[in-house]
Amino acid sequence: MTIYEQIGGEAAVNAAVDLFYTKVLADPLLAPVFEGVDMNGQNGKQRAFFTALFKSEATGVEEYMRQSHARLVAEKGINDAHFDAVAKHLNDTLVELSVPAEIVSQIMGAASGLRDAVLNR
Ligand code: HEM
Repeated sequence: MTIYEQIGGEAAVNAAVDLFYTKVLADPLLAPVFEGVDMNGQNGKQRAFFTALFKSEATGVEEYMRQSHARLVAEKGINDAHFDAVAKHLNDTLVELSVPAEIVSQIMGAASGLRDAVLNR
C-alpha cells in the first residue's frame, strides 16, 4: 500500500492540505514567503506538496524541489528555520488528523530527505 492509500486517499489528503496551509499562512515567519503567491491558483500545488512527499523516493523529486524553491532561497532567503517551521506544521497536521504514528514518521522522514534540495544546497 502506498502512503497515499495508507492515510486514507483523496479525502484525507484534501483535509491535510487545508489544515496544513491554514497553519503555514498563520505563521508570521512563513506568511511573508507566500506573499504574492496566488493561493487560489495554488490548490494543485498544495496537493503537489503532499504528492512530492509520498513520491520522495522517485527519481526527479529532488530536482523538482530544488527548481521550485531556488528562487525563494535567492530572493526570500528561506533557510533551515523556515524548513523546520514547515516540517512542524506538517507534523502537527498529520497528528491532528489522527494519522498513525508510523506513517507520520515515514512522511517526516521523506520531508527531511528533501531539506537540502528545497534549500538548494
Ligand atoms: C519537504 C518540504 C517541502 C516540500 C515537499 C515542498 C513542496 C512544494 C511543491 C510541490 C511546490 C509546487 C511547485 C510547483 O510545481 O510550482 C511548492 C511551492 C512552494 N513552496 Fe514548497 N515545499 C517544501 C518546503 C517549503 C519551504 C520550507 C518553504 C518556505 C516557506 C516553501 C515555500 C513554497 C512556496 C512559497 C511555493 C510557491 C512558489 C510559487 O508558486 O511561486 N516550501 N512547494
